[in-house]
Amino acid sequence: MIVKLIMIGDVVGEPGLAVLEKLLPPLIAQEEADFVVVNGENAAAGFGITETEKARILNAGADIITTGNHVWEKREFWPALDTEERVLRPANYPGKPVGRGWTLLQKNKTRWLVINLQGRELMTPIDCPFRAFACVETLDAQATEFHDLLKRNDAIVLVDFHAESTREKEALGFYLDGRAAVVAGTHTHVQTADEKVLPLGTAYITDLGMTGVSGGVIGMDAAVCQDRARTQVLYRMTCAEPTPAQPPELQGIVVEIDREMRRAVSIRRLRIKE
Ligand SMILES: [Fe+2]
Repeated sequence: MIVKLIMIGDVVGEPGLAVLEKLLPPLIAQEEADFVVVNGENAAAGFGITETEKARILNAGADIITTGNHVWEKREFWPALDTEERVLRPANYPGKPVGRGWTLLQKNKTRWLVINLQGRELMTPIDCPFRAFACVETLDAQATEFHDLLKRNDAIVLVDFHAESTREKEALGFYLDGRAAVVAGTHTHVQTADEKVLPLGTAYITDLGMTGVSGGVIGMDAAVCQDRARTQVLYRMTCAEPTPAQPPELQGIVVEIDREMRRAVSIRRLRIKE
């Protein structure tokens, strides 16, 4: 039996939320998608996520919200990371920060194991994402359960790898080939054209892209980003404003997965303008 997954790239601010709410529900219906993962780490005006954005993303049809380095921006949301099983932070932060890095959800008889990892090349050098997936001895009490789940061998494994380095992302994709059904990169906000099914059945893309105003700089106002780059002063970034010539876009992938084999059979890029 084939099941269908939609993964959506980083939702950036109000323009991203608005286009997600407009385009995702009909897309889910049109594709007859079984499961939806949305990266929401930039949903709160570009920086982090709060209860408001969480509710809007879930209402738009997401089953799971993944995040990344910006998940810590809104401290008022930290307690919710502990109680809300549908929102993940990267699993490979050292120590025992609030929240969870993976979750298991059963929906319509299919078990989905979603794991959020973060890269450490050109980023904060947190724990090894490869080891976080593979080596239970480095993980905490949650990880023991994680290992058991993998041994049960009946869940479809999805990975959102929030990382800057293309090399690190491709390396993890090959490392998890045959172990995860999907390894999808996030973080750069620029969709890559390298979607493929790897030799052992893992659907891979270096970056899903973003959901927001593509006419800006990674969804933010271009003028401010130029000023920051030219002066190295950390001027406050604001979301790019949509214009008729630069409407918001929904970007991500659709993946068909053989449920029994737990392997991908196809991957297709999504880039839909409002
Ligand atoms: Fe992001």
